[in-house]
Amino acid sequence: MKHFLDLVAGARPNFVKLAPVVRGLIARGELDFRIVHTGQHYDPAMNDVFFRELEIPEPERHLNVGSGSHGVQTARILERYEAELVARRPSATVVFGDVNSTVACALAAVKLGVPVAHVEAGLRSFDRTMPEEINRLLTDAIADLLLVSEASGLANLQREGVAEAKARLVGNVMIDTLVATLPAARARGTAGRLGLKERGYGFVTLHRPSNVDEPATLARLVDLLHELSRELPLVFPVHPRTLKVAGQAGLAARLAPGQPRLVCLEAQPYVDSLSLLAGAAVVLTDSGGVQEETSYLGVPCLTLRENTERPVTVELGTSRLVGNDPARIRAAFADVLGGRWPAGRPIPLWDGQAGPRVAAALAAWLQSAGDPRP
Ligand code: UD1
Repeated sequence: MKHFLDLVAGARPNFVKLAPVVRGLIARGELDFRIVHTGQHYDPAMNDVFFRELEIPEPERHLNVGSGSHGVQTARILERYEAELVARRPSATVVFGDVNSTVACALAAVKLGVPVAHVEAGLRSFDRTMPEEINRLLTDAIADLLLVSEASGLANLQREGVAEAKARLVGNVMIDTLVATLPAARARGTAGRLGLKERGYGFVTLHRPSNVDEPATLARLVDLLHELSRELPLVFPVHPRTLKVAGQAGLAARLAPGQPRLVCLEAQPYVDSLSLLAGAAVVLTDSGGVQEETSYLGVPCLTLRENTERPVTVELGTSRLVGNDPARIRAAFADVLGGRWPAGRPIPLWDGQAGPRVAAALAAWLQSAGDPRP
């Protein structure tokens, strides 16, 4: 009898991390698994298109939790996933990243005595105002196997007193997806279809509460994007969260499609997003994943945050923290356009082979736990 795993996915960044682990597990053939989708992200543009493009198998279970406050969303996932665990108990639950689905499913599992593996463990921004930091801390505190993407994660876990035997540096699964998809992304030529030339535009993503939830902050950033776009056209796929606040704050017209210099789009499929990233002269973002992707691609990245849980993207990669103060962002933008931006260096184990390493670590872990429970 094979061990059987639950792989939990809920929000867009989870899907990009799940795909290489699924491939790794299928290639090894030692473990059975099912995908459980919490439904945290549900718009076709945030969800279905990712499953299709990344060829992720259809989830066996859908929890359909939808949006809500943190308490409501987390509680719904906890309640519904617990019922799934009771109906069919896996040998272990695998959670990804730092979203509400990650912590809720980890908690439901450990309370029922189901061991938890966390992919992308150990990252810390040391900023407890970020919902993701709370999710990271809590998930790592209760997980049994901590699969780490960069060396800082191991050091953080060690500092927090996590037993060394629980943690493994496996590299970055998101980079596996990038490596596997880059040829298709280049072939898609998304910038060309928008009338833009390679390196002739910048790419923007913004969705962190610290940048978009406060209307005054968002308005300042939108003004700045319009200003910068006069120097270099900017492509901006607008996240639903950002769009919602923009609507409430009377900024919808400033982020409407059809503007020639600030090209606003709806949330983009993965292949188009990667296509735009790979051809950009500069990226402005508050996304952790995009910091990682630009570092791998060697594209200058202005990170609109005061801290990062991914310090290697600043130390070896191409990301610089610029916060959300227009003067700092303007100065950094000028540095990129003036050619004053350090080239990145390769990051250890961000090599497109993290998925197989995760699968191997899961297999060895479960083997050491003995035979599956009947
Ligand atoms: C979530 C994650 C964040 C991740 C991001 C990627 C948490 C705490 N946050 O943030 O770490 O970087 O996903 O996108 O888990 N909405 C839609 N359609 C959807 C999903 C959301 O319109 O399919 C809108 C809703 O108005 C919702 C809002 O976006 O209230 C926020 O969604 P939510 O999943 O709560 O957080 P994100 O900001 O997407």
